[in-house]
Amino acid sequence: MAFPPAFLDELTARNPIEDVVGQYVSLKRSGSNLFGLCPFHGEKTASFSVAPDKGIYYCFGCHKGGSVINFQMEIEGLSYPDAVRALAKRVGMEVPEDEQYQSRYRQQERLWALHKEAARFFHSQLYAPVGAQALQYAYGRGMPKSVLTRFGIGYAPDSWSSLVDALRKKGYTDQELRDSGLVTISKKNGNLFDRFRDRLMFPIIDVRGNVIGFGGRIMNDKDKNAAKYLNSPETLIFNKRKNLFALNLAKKSKLGYLILVEGYMDAIALHQYGFDCAVASLGTALTEDGAALLSKYTDQVVLIYDGDTAGQNATKRAIPILEKAGLQVKVLQMRDAKDPDEFLKKFGADRFKLLLEESSNRVEYQLNAILKKYDLRDDDQKVKYLQESAELICTLSSSVQREVYAGRVAEVAKISMEAMKLEVNRAFKRRIAREKKKQEKIDLSPARNLQPKSRSIHYDNLKSARAEEMVIGQTLRQPALLDQTRELTQEMFSSELLGRVYGQMCRRHREHLEVSVNGLTDFSPEEMSHIAGILHSQQGPINEQALLDCVAAIRQEYQSRRVTTDEDILAHMERMKKSKGYKA
Ligand code: GTP
Ligand code: MN
Repeated sequence: MAFPPAFLDELTARNPIEDVVGQYVSLKRSGSNLFGLCPFHGEKTASFSVAPDKGIYYCFGCHKGGSVINFQMEIEGLSYPDAVRALAKRVGMEVPEDEQYQSRYRQQERLWALHKEAARFFHSQLYAPVGAQALQYAYGRGMPKSVLTRFGIGYAPDSWSSLVDALRKKGYTDQELRDSGLVTISKKNGNLFDRFRDRLMFPIIDVRGNVIGFGGRIMNDKDKNAAKYLNSPETLIFNKRKNLFALNLAKKSKLGYLILVEGYMDAIALHQYGFDCAVASLGTALTEDGAALLSKYTDQVVLIYDGDTAGQNATKRAIPILEKAGLQVKVLQMRDAKDPDEFLKKFGADRFKLLLEESSNRVEYQLNAILKKYDLRDDDQKVKYLQESAELICTLSSSVQREVYAGRVAEVAKISMEAMKLEVNRAFKRRIAREKKKQEKIDLSPARNLQPKSRSIHYDNLKSARAEEMVIGQTLRQPALLDQTRELTQEMFSSELLGRVYGQMCRRHREHLEVSVNGLTDFSPEEMSHIAGILHSQQGPINEQALLDCVAAIRQEYQSRRVTTDEDILAHMERMKKSKGYKA
């Protein structure tokens, strides 16, 4: 679903990057560039820059960057085409949609409607005679009718085709039923059956209010053969990693933070007890996508995972993911109950509020985790506890924080504050020494410095890549130079990514289209960030000879690569000849 280049050119021309970024970031001019606080990571000094002449943004802190379209994608969490659509809307341009998009969108609309119908059906069954037991189960778990209505909870009857029949009656085709993921297909005869049977149904609703899937819970925990929860499979409209249960409600909360829990029932109980900012991940571990979604609605997240080991491990994994998304993380440790649902029903909202207020931030959580590892009655272990705590405390940038936490550890271990401060200082010196060593290592190997920041991009031939970066940077800046680099072709690039950039630039140059980052299509956000970084790091134009030297270097590296491949083929044929079955 490619948009016509002429349309994209007009789109980017009518959406100057400084205007679009300016809607989100307050920018100050300095020379030819503009600077501001990066909207993609927390920072206090402005390392986020916009270069209107190059049409790019780039952050020196988190290394995100790209064109105006990339910015729109990143800031609103949109796909490429949706970002283009948003920018078009911003300036009142009509988008030339292709057939494929339109038919895909129509298909999605049908699936949203189908799911809404299914949710209605399940909900109605809860109050029908077949749902009597399910309703009792729901009441028994402390969900009054108001909650069942608010969350649209339902019941999938214990039958093979009640949903299939209901949806067919509403005019949905078998193909649509298959696409919905709500049916299973008989291997024998291809017949369709209800996927969810005899389960309490939790509709999953996206932030736009569309029902996109379901979670279904068995009601007899003694049944060891059935999975406790069954979730919709991934479909055209349902992606587990990119959605969170109850976010459609929580995004409207006035509490100013979001609570992230593990289970549907936990999120529901929290809402019921007044914590209307709770969301749950959809039976998967929290992903970067999930964190990015959260960060669109808040900058503070309280993590409440179950008190068991699995929950603790999940907490440890989730913290850095959330922090990387720029979120401030607090951790609430579940006590005297296995999860928030159980806690609320046992002790009520007020006790929970107390827990929430004392819920620790990341440092406290980690200090607690260290404490749990050691038995302080044993002297050796106590020393280890102090050392490990000091290692953590010395990483804190604020001296007040260091003081506070050092004091707390000293108190726990019953040592003097002075002794603890010494321990922290020692740990600090050890850390500085370690980092210095590490930095020296990096400085001594320029090769490593040249490797892209993004781990998904790697240069195999650094000598060539350096020249390739130069060619890309210079010709993007002055496209007329592409006339000078004509002997260079895409295949000669050692970096597939840079080759692709060059190829697209040449094509546009040949077709007399404007050559700029805005004209680059089909690059991932990481790739665009990398390209913006190259553009940003190159100062002023170099002379023509230097550029031609780069071209020569790339060609030379290319030639030597080819020779080796040819030699490889020859050697391979030699071996084949020697092996028995070979006939010339
Ligand atoms: P209750 O037992 O009803 O209180 O549920 P819970 O929400 O407390 O569930 P639990 O802590 O057991 O699990 C947390 C989440 O993991 C659930 O909400 C589901 O999303 C998911 N989950 C649990 N069991 C299963 C399972 O058997 N299969 C799948 N796919 N997901 C599960
Ligand atoms: Mn539970």
